[in-house]
Amino acid sequence: MSTKEQVLGLLEKNKGESLSGEYIAELLSISRSAVWKAVRQLEKEGYKIEAVPNKGYSLLNVNDIISLQGLAALLPLKLCEGKIHIFKTLESTNKTAKEMAISNAEHGTIVITETQTAGRGRFGRSFYSPSGGGLYISFVLKPEIINFTTPETVTVYAAVCVCRVIENICGLKAGIKWVNDIFYEGKKVCGILTEGVTDLESQSMQWLALGIGINIYTPTGGFPDNIKNTAGALYHEGYTPPVKNKIAAALIKEIMNTPKNEAHIFDEYKNRLIMLSKTISVTSKDGVYSAKAVGVTNRGHLIVKKDNGDTLELFSGEISIKV
Ligand code: BTN
Repeated sequence: MSTKEQVLGLLEKNKGESLSGEYIAELLSISRSAVWKAVRQLEKEGYKIEAVPNKGYSLLNVNDIISLQGLAALLPLKLCEGKIHIFKTLESTNKTAKEMAISNAEHGTIVITETQTAGRGRFGRSFYSPSGGGLYISFVLKPEIINFTTPETVTVYAAVCVCRVIENICGLKAGIKWVNDIFYEGKKVCGILTEGVTDLESQSMQWLALGIGINIYTPTGGFPDNIKNTAGALYHEGYTPPVKNKIAAALIKEIMNTPKNEAHIFDEYKNRLIMLSKTISVTSKDGVYSAKAVGVTNRGHLIVKKDNGDTLELFSGEISIKV
């Protein structure tokens, strides 16, 4: 680890408090001028550090840059040591996570990036991933360790986790639009994409890349025209409370703490659905019809009751739903 990273680690662990240059230098067995240089480097990278004479350096609470050190200050060692990889830019965290999986990454390997140049959504769609406003994160998961009955449950569980984190960290109430979109104030603020890596010989699912994209802050100037009516963020333009590291750490804790009882996951998922008991418009290959959403199966299929009384089980497929 570089001197700069070590200094950042200490400052993140003691965020908001002053640490004297002498204390940092002694702890890291480096000179005081090396501490000063590291602080200058961090400031150049955008960290706001207050230097108070006779007190020392303090990493201000306004800082919101996702870093290994920022996450390590909030996570148990076993969840982050050697497992979290943070990038400035990637095509897609899911793509990188899958490549890492193929090269035998550990279960729980995590890929985070500041921005994605080819962020992907379901059905080959793209996922808008600008710099600064979002959290783009993928988890490499081994199905046999998670041990859910079907891999689809991972997406269901992730949707529940995202809602819990938004509630616990931001104090906001988000809901799930079946299958895997998280909505807040009527707009999509998060998308989830789970991709599998199958072993061709055994035809078994070897790895899952669970990707989650959360729009935390509204991008400067708003969302592009083609998505501005549907995409939203947790915070309105110009308001950027420092929650990125907190959201990422809380999400990592939730996702990596997969429960044994799948029934509870489906209960919570159902309770967080925004469309339950409401009349929705379903567009499938057979046309458009209206129906009432009445439940979810333990495979994550939506149960709807059509106006003529017929009950149907909807698979995610290419069905689109309007609430
Ligand atoms: C969707 O809305 O259809 C799913 C969007 C999933 C976006 C996330 S962002 C992190 C990860 N990397 C990707 O390329 N996609 C997922």
